[in-house]
Amino acid sequence: MDGNGRWAQQRGKPRSAGHQAGLKVTRDIVEHCARLQIDALTVYAFSSENWQRPEKEVSFLMELFVKAIRSELNKLHENNIRVQFIGELSRFSEGLLKEIKTATDKTANNTGMFLNIAVNYGGRGELVSAMSDIAAKVKNGELDVTDITEKTLTEHTWLAQCPEPDLFIRTGGEQRLSNYLLWHLAYTELAFTDTLWPDFDGTELDSIIQNFSSRQRRFGQTGEQVKAS
Ligand code: IPE
Ligand code: MG
Repeated sequence: MDGNGRWAQQRGKPRSAGHQAGLKVTRDIVEHCARLQIDALTVYAFSSENWQRPEKEVSFLMELFVKAIRSELNKLHENNIRVQFIGELSRFSEGLLKEIKTATDKTANNTGMFLNIAVNYGGRGELVSAMSDIAAKVKNGELDVTDITEKTLTEHTWLAQCPEPDLFIRTGGEQRLSNYLLWHLAYTELAFTDTLWPDFDGTELDSIIQNFSSRQRRFGQTGEQVKAS
């Protein structure tokens, strides 16, 4: 969800106004995806590198997260959405951790779309965390080194419960992953749009999904093999 700051700056507004507008769009897109019966939507709200931003912007974002979870939770629950937070959560304030726990617990038994909110998230950090959990199990004899497979690693990531992502969308014009879902994106189709996040909407999402549907996903096979199967 990139481009909030530039959107605001283009309008002579503070960056915070962009984040506020971005939140509205996030709400619309979450509902749109739930209506499309998408299995899982993972949104990058705050990266492990975003702490380097000016203190004022970081604290604005933290307050926005608390307020957003509070104001959106009932609606998310009504829509049968399962809310999960992925990232190194321990760095957050007690207040935010409390909201995170409330949202996670309240929606844990829902059966609809997974909404994964990546906060203080970094793809490399996620892999280090998975590997260290695996190493601990090897050390205490719970797991044998020869039993470690790709599946083992997937099961120790923060998205263990979700299917692999089919489609990645980055708004805001940059064409890079910025440490996002490094393990999970191995076979994901990538889409980039210049639209700034606060200008993104369901119509553009639909057209990206339509383009995605026309792609042939070969997973290493030839086009002929895929057609035959
Ligand atoms: C939102 O966009 C992403 C967040 C970290 C909340 P940005 O804040 O990165 O916006 P730009 O890239 O400066 O326009
Ligand atoms: Mg940015």
